[in-house]
Amino acid sequence: MNKPPVIVALDFPDQRSALALVDRLDPSLCRLKVGKELFTRSGPAIVESLTRRGFELFLDLKFHDIPNTVAAACDAAADLGVWMMNLHASGGRRMMETARERLEKRSERPLLIAVTILTSLGEEDLAEIGFSGTPQENVLRLAALAASSGLDGVVCSPLEAAAIRERQGGKFLLVTPGVRPATASLDDQKRVMTPADAVQAGATHLVIGRPITAAEDPVAALEAINKTLSNA
Ligand code: C5P
Repeated sequence: MNKPPVIVALDFPDQRSALALVDRLDPSLCRLKVGKELFTRSGPAIVESLTRRGFELFLDLKFHDIPNTVAAACDAAADLGVWMMNLHASGGRRMMETARERLEKRSERPLLIAVTILTSLGEEDLAEIGFSGTPQENVLRLAALAASSGLDGVVCSPLEAAAIRERQGGKFLLVTPGVRPATASLDDQKRVMTPADAVQAGATHLVIGRPITAAEDPVAALEAINKTLSNA
């Protein structure tokens, strides 16, 4: 059976609290995501602790810099043994291509995906930084740029997944946060979809944090989500 598409977001302030949760999880039932806070506090040691436990890891550091610097950072992340990493598509084609080419020098390369438009930005925020058009138009344009730069996929809202899937081929990865089981609290997420609906819309991977990490029984919460997916 394929591994379920859930990537558990480890939004913890330190390694000890992250590992307390991770030690209850089974690497055959989920993948993990380490973001800026945990990585900045715990460094490569947290990545090594997680991969040593058999987990596939998405290093969510959203690189954005000149091509040579981003490519070198991607190479460093690959040395840590991560499964997937990301960068900002707005860094441009040359930045994305250089990073992808650097990773392709390896016999086995990690997946490289792009962030298009942060979901925290509305049309007015985009105008202020010089982007015209709606967030959706910008998302579709940057997703197409990521695809034509040879990236493996994008991070997107589940509400954008169907439109991107329609334009990009079936192999393009769509990694969606903003996913909530029907019974879970929304927390600070506003526009959400259930796991099954997100997959139906074209998502290939679901980033889910608090509905699992803050659950009274995180293992049961993950199993319940996986069950709704296998039933769907
Ligand atoms: O706890 P929750 O399920 O809301 O966590 C979602 C994770 O996905 C967090 O790590 C958050 O930073 C990330 N994320 C998001 N929305 C985006 C991009 C990333 O929620 N647009």
